[in-house]
Amino acid sequence: MTFPKDFLWGGATAANQCEGAYLEDGKGLSVPDMLLGGDVDTPRTFLPKTDPNAFYPSHEAIDFYHHYKEDIAMFAEMGWGVFRLSINWGRIFPNGDDAEPNEAGLAFYDKVFDECHKHGIEPLVTLCHYEIPWNIVTQYHGFYSRQTIDLFTKYARTCFERYKDKVKYWLTFNEINIPLMGGGHSGLGNLYGLGLMQDEDINSETPIPLSDLKDNPQMRFEALHNQFVASALAVQAGHEINPDFKIGNMIAHITTYPLTPNPKDILENQRNMHISNDLCGDVQVRGAYPDFAFRYFKENQIDVSYITEADKEILKEGTVDFYTFSYYMTNCITVDESAEKIGGNMSMGAKNPYLKASDWGWQIDPDGLRYTLNLLHDRYPDTPLMVVENGFGAFDQVEADGSIHDDYRIAYFKEHIKAMDEAVEDGVPLIGYTTWGPIDLVSAGTGQYAKRYGFIYVDRHDDGTGDFSRSRKDSFYWYQKVCQSNGADLG
Ligand code: BG6
Repeated sequence: MTFPKDFLWGGATAANQCEGAYLEDGKGLSVPDMLLGGDVDTPRTFLPKTDPNAFYPSHEAIDFYHHYKEDIAMFAEMGWGVFRLSINWGRIFPNGDDAEPNEAGLAFYDKVFDECHKHGIEPLVTLCHYEIPWNIVTQYHGFYSRQTIDLFTKYARTCFERYKDKVKYWLTFNEINIPLMGGGHSGLGNLYGLGLMQDEDINSETPIPLSDLKDNPQMRFEALHNQFVASALAVQAGHEINPDFKIGNMIAHITTYPLTPNPKDILENQRNMHISNDLCGDVQVRGAYPDFAFRYFKENQIDVSYITEADKEILKEGTVDFYTFSYYMTNCITVDESAEKIGGNMSMGAKNPYLKASDWGWQIDPDGLRYTLNLLHDRYPDTPLMVVENGFGAFDQVEADGSIHDDYRIAYFKEHIKAMDEAVEDGVPLIGYTTWGPIDLVSAGTGQYAKRYGFIYVDRHDDGTGDFSRSRKDSFYWYQKVCQSNGADLG
């Protein structure tokens, strides 16, 4: 095995999917708090007014807020060097535009980071993992308003100042490219990513399936641009507050292949990879929009006069120190509209006849991870890379004695870690790996508990039952060996 000796092994979570305590200690409502659950066939529903009779998964999630000591101790038992988590913006600024931060919210993360350090675990903190305060959606249309750039920068500065001696690794926005996926018409992408909704949806009296939320491409691209500016300003502020900070971006890297050697498929796939993945990566790593973006904007009637000279300077000055991404699956792209379709992480594509898929239709492709790491290294040769999400959502069976034999999850991870090892051997500067959902949590896409990712099982179910107790699956002991052997012992 070839992993560097200081390689960071660990796991990744998001506040809204695990903390719960959704109004405790002064926290305000944020976007996920308005969403009900769905399943593989039923999209999540947005319910504008929190209904006391409805089940909102994020409200209690897995109650990490009250279990963090126990959970971090179990992470340490696995031998982790890093724990990726997000700060819930609404705990720090409950309405997003408050004059002063909420001290109780700040104090919570002090305790969490102290607990990590007690166990020798380095926190890797995402500032915004879909947790845009709800008030920013209703009052500002999320990042469509330039005022939200200031609100985010103030929030980022508050966190950097407060935790400058406790956190070294930061990410600005989780999966900043999701508003570009699937043609960008996904309500989930607009709402989760940008906090952007149209007035008629915000004011709806009845539940709306996320797939039916209205899209306005001009507003979407302006909002994304404002988010790029907010991210770049945060990077600059962070480096000023502590020059030792390492601040990264985060991309949902949906790698796609041409379905056939038809040159039309090749070109269509290249266009898709450019728009879905590289546009955001280039802005954040190279500090400027790539040329192909402008043709895309033109063809989609996007008026880009919002990209000012002053903004261009900010983007140039706010490039990231490392590139991080999530990797779960790959899809195929074709111009043949009759090709069989298959789902994926916030995305759709054509079915690949060579790959098997999970129960949620996500195609399993370890070789694609090696390919992706090499592509990224070719594109950004001087930038260290980190895989900050990778995992297998599955139904787990608890045996009579309480054990959980999740060999399918072990098999998934084993092959993906082997692929990373090959990529390191290829010369890719990979610095770390955090698996997604190392402890079962609420699914972002479907809102389910039943879609489990963890090495640690949580007794909590989609009907709202369960006592939140934690237990170790077989994969827990397997990943422990991986971390402790620096990837040498894959069982
Ligand atoms: C990523 C997100 O898109 O995929 C996570 O960053 C999410 O928040 C993960 O949970 C897995 O997706 P899902 O829909 O299975 O929860």
